[in-house]
Amino acid sequence: MAHSYNFAIFMIVSLLPISFTLTIVKADLIDEICSKTVIKDVCYYALREDPRSKGANPEDLMAIVIDLTQKNATFTCNLVSTLLKETTDPKLKTRYTLCLGNFNKASNILVKFPNLLRSKDYYGLSANASAAIREPSNCDNNFLEPPVEVPELREASDNLRGLIDVILVLVGFL
Ligand SMILES: *[C@@H]1O[C@H](CO)[C@@H](O)[C@H](O)[C@H]1NC(C)=O
Ligand SMILES: *[C@@H]1O[C@H](CO)[C@@H](O)[C@H](O)[C@H]1NC(C)=O
Repeated sequence: MAHSYNFAIFMIVSLLPISFTLTIVKADLIDEICSKTVIKDVCYYALREDPRSKGANPEDLMAIVIDLTQKNATFTCNLVSTLLKETTDPKLKTRYTLCLGNFNKASNILVKFPNLLRSKDYYGLSANASAAIREPSNCDNNFLEPPVEVPELREASDNLRGLIDVILVLVGFL
């Protein structure tokens, strides 16, 4: 009896540091990932604020970021559609139409990501993310000459680029 009691204490004392270490490792994982991204705020926001990311491994985090990125691409497509409907400026109509094409293309690439992750096609994931990340910049480049890009579109574009960059960095952890 005394023997098993001692053993129980031994287990508790020896397992405590392990559980602390695991917690630290998990906190570090997000730091390790986000420190390698271009827009760190977007990465921390996406990975830390999502309740699903608690205790998540790199594969779980990838599934979360893919989900957020798809939602963000849809959000951006809707934003551009609204801007297009609201403008009467022919120059802006042309640019918003081009941007809608850019973000639709990004969305159509992102649709494949959950399957690429499920089939562990990390090369495909990385190659497709490299293709998708060009689209927000292609939209921004339509505004190199006045009129300037409205801040909400620029922000949405930066956000989407930032999220796709998290996918590119995360592939290296899988
Ligand atoms: C996307 O992934 C698929 C599957 O691996 C691959 O065949 C295709 O070439 C990739 N697309 C791009 C643009 O890299
Ligand atoms: C998606 O984009 C919108 C607009 O830029 C932003 O408000 C929102 O926070 C973004 N979502 C994520 C998960 O980054």
